[in-house]
Amino acid sequence: MKNTTVSKRLISVPASPIRKLVPYAMEAKRQGIKVLHLNIGDPDIKTPGVMIDVLNKWTENPIRYGQSQGEGKFIDALVNYYNSLGFGFIDGKNVQVTTGGSEAISMAFFAVCQPGEEVITFEPYYANYNSYATINGVKIVPVLTKGETGFHLPERQVIEEKITKKTKAIIICNPNNPTGTVYTRDEMEMLVSICEKNNLFLISDEVYREFVYDGKKHVSILEFMKKYPDKMILLDSLSKRYSLCGARLGMFVSLNEDLIAGVLRIAQGRLSSGLIDQEMASKLSEVKDSYFKEVHKEYQARRDVLYNGLKSIPGVFLEKPEGAFYTIVKLPVKDTENFCQWLLSKFVYEKTTVMIAPAPGFYGTKGRGKNEVRIAYVLNTRDLEKAIEILRRALVEY
Ligand SMILES: Cc1ncc(COP(=O)(O)O)c(C=O)c1O
Repeated sequence: MKNTTVSKRLISVPASPIRKLVPYAMEAKRQGIKVLHLNIGDPDIKTPGVMIDVLNKWTENPIRYGQSQGEGKFIDALVNYYNSLGFGFIDGKNVQVTTGGSEAISMAFFAVCQPGEEVITFEPYYANYNSYATINGVKIVPVLTKGETGFHLPERQVIEEKITKKTKAIIICNPNNPTGTVYTRDEMEMLVSICEKNNLFLISDEVYREFVYDGKKHVSILEFMKKYPDKMILLDSLSKRYSLCGARLGMFVSLNEDLIAGVLRIAQGRLSSGLIDQEMASKLSEVKDSYFKEVHKEYQARRDVLYNGLKSIPGVFLEKPEGAFYTIVKLPVKDTENFCQWLLSKFVYEKTTVMIAPAPGFYGTKGRGKNEVRIAYVLNTRDLEKAIEILRRALVEY
């Protein structure tokens, strides 16, 4: 018998705006059309060889559980990494290994909020914050950032106006998905100061830390952690940094001992993250600098191809993305949900079409972002050029 009595809160979990169009893409592929995926941040860059070697040489049998906090060897490698960035005060006891940065987001919401409490963030924002907020009974309160100012933060007063008795934290993503914005030192100092004054947690999602272009410097929350140890949380992940999306490894980092002890108890409930994944990722200290240099060069080149190409299409507006590998682009259409669906179901150029994500799913405020899309530049420059040509032709025909 079919049980239809699922919980209301289950029904309230939003579907991923990025994956909504998947059935249309599948149908296009069934018809023999090539789909260029600019809709999802799954990089095509190779995972470092030293990590793949661990898989090739795996002999341990049976495959046991790992430690709930994370495997000692892996935590040591992570501490080494943070220390090498200049944050020598980070110790193994400050790090909880998570099953992807995704689990770290969920833990952070659970750890700082009671059901019904609020977390401020800047829209457009990473859409899965909505999923984890809903799962944890947390309300996301969005503060608008605009394309014209490169999605940089508004004045302090605009942010402080959103603080209520229920506000517990501000969460940022820096470098930003979906906007590509990298917050300046002044912006970070403002956020720290707002949190300090209003007794809020500052949660910084830095899964794209290395992806910063044009010689800009990333200002990490780690720079402020010692000054404000109880209220700072770093969310991190290896998915993008080492092209390890499928390894499902992330980190929750804090100097607040109660927070760390609490998230460890959550981690004990799910026993451990993947043992093989951690063994593999423990090799991160052996990844040569040249790996990052190459990856960085490649993404900056992709960013340039995308930016210059899109800029040359009449009616298209975007600011140059400063980091990560995403950008929000204004298109000369009224409704990008409709346009993106049309691209997949009705438009073909040289047996190819493109899949991009309509931006409304990245806004918390209904009605915003209707003429915007998010583009992920996770393809090589040749495919990107082709994708831009398709978009150019599609916008004329649409
Ligand atoms: C901003 C941001 N945070 C967190 C994540 C979670 O990544 P993962 O769970 O693969 O570590 C992603 C993935 O795309 C992301 O874009």
